[in-house]
Amino acid sequence: MTAADLPGVTVITGASEGIGRSLALELARRGEAVALLARRKPLLDEAVAEIAKAGGRAIAVPCDVTEREAVRAAIAGIEQSFGPVERVIANAGGGKRAPGAALDAAAIEATMRLNYMGTVHTIEAALPFMLARRRGHLVIMSSLAALLGLPGAAGYSAAKAAVARLGESLQIDLAPHGIDVTLLYPGFVDKGGKKKRRPLAMSLARMTRRTADAIQARRRCSLYPASLRLLLALVRGLPAGLRVSLLSRFAKKG
Ligand SMILES: NC(=O)c1ccc[n+]([C@@H]2O[C@H](COP(=O)([O-])OP(=O)(O)OC[C@H]3O[C@@H](n4cnc5c(N)ncnc54)[C@H](OP(=O)(O)O)[C@@H]3O)[C@@H](O)[C@H]2O)c1
Repeated sequence: MTAADLPGVTVITGASEGIGRSLALELARRGEAVALLARRKPLLDEAVAEIAKAGGRAIAVPCDVTEREAVRAAIAGIEQSFGPVERVIANAGGGKRAPGAALDAAAIEATMRLNYMGTVHTIEAALPFMLARRRGHLVIMSSLAALLGLPGAAGYSAAKAAVARLGESLQIDLAPHGIDVTLLYPGFVDKGGKKKRRPLAMSLARMTRRTADAIQARRRCSLYPASLRLLLALVRGLPAGLRVSLLSRFAKKG
């Protein structure tokens, strides 16, 4: 039997911690073979061992998604040795809050490079295999922060809006090729620890289940939780002056 005969694989980037790790464990529990990508191999190995112990099939693939050639090599390696890539979840991302008054092009470029180019590299690497088979599923991790500019999030909100527009365009272009695209817009996640609780945050467990359900149903688009989605839609709909003065109450001076 060659790798091509094996069942389809789900690749998850940013799987060494947080949502990506939790999602990898959940999808493995639901029977998917998962390839976990991130930079820190020891953390990936731990997650893979946990999946194997529970009877799942997983592989750790250390890789920096900002490095185009490294991502191409990683996906090609998975295709060769682990199985055909059926689904790719471009989850690696994040960004530090920074006041707009301290606007720093280098920090914004790094946020864009991780969230946007990391997603582009991941999709670019998997696409030729999916196109050849005329099947596949691309999942893009945006955020409710993409819906409007939030305080201290000039780089992050913009990067997440960019991945969302990328995904919308790919949904149109790739449908005739048999490739589905899912756009995820989660709200805040409470991952425990010392971090301050954020408004209407979901627990990691709930967030993971909602995300896995949306992915497995191949939904085109999922915005959650409904409470934060509605709140943001309401704020978005306010007259600009009112919206700015309301949101500026939450901005850190700096
Ligand atoms: N947390 C939230 O409230 C929230 C809300 C909405 C959307 N999101 C989005 O959901 C995704 C996951 O968020 P999270 O909170 O789980 O993040 P997290 O806990 O900070 O984890 C980020 C993951 O990305 C990986 N990563 C970072 N830079 C990378 C790189 N250059 N190459 C490969 N992997 C890299 C990290 O692993 P290594 O350091 O080992 O590489 C880690 O596994 C992100 O796209 C985030 O924007 C998060």
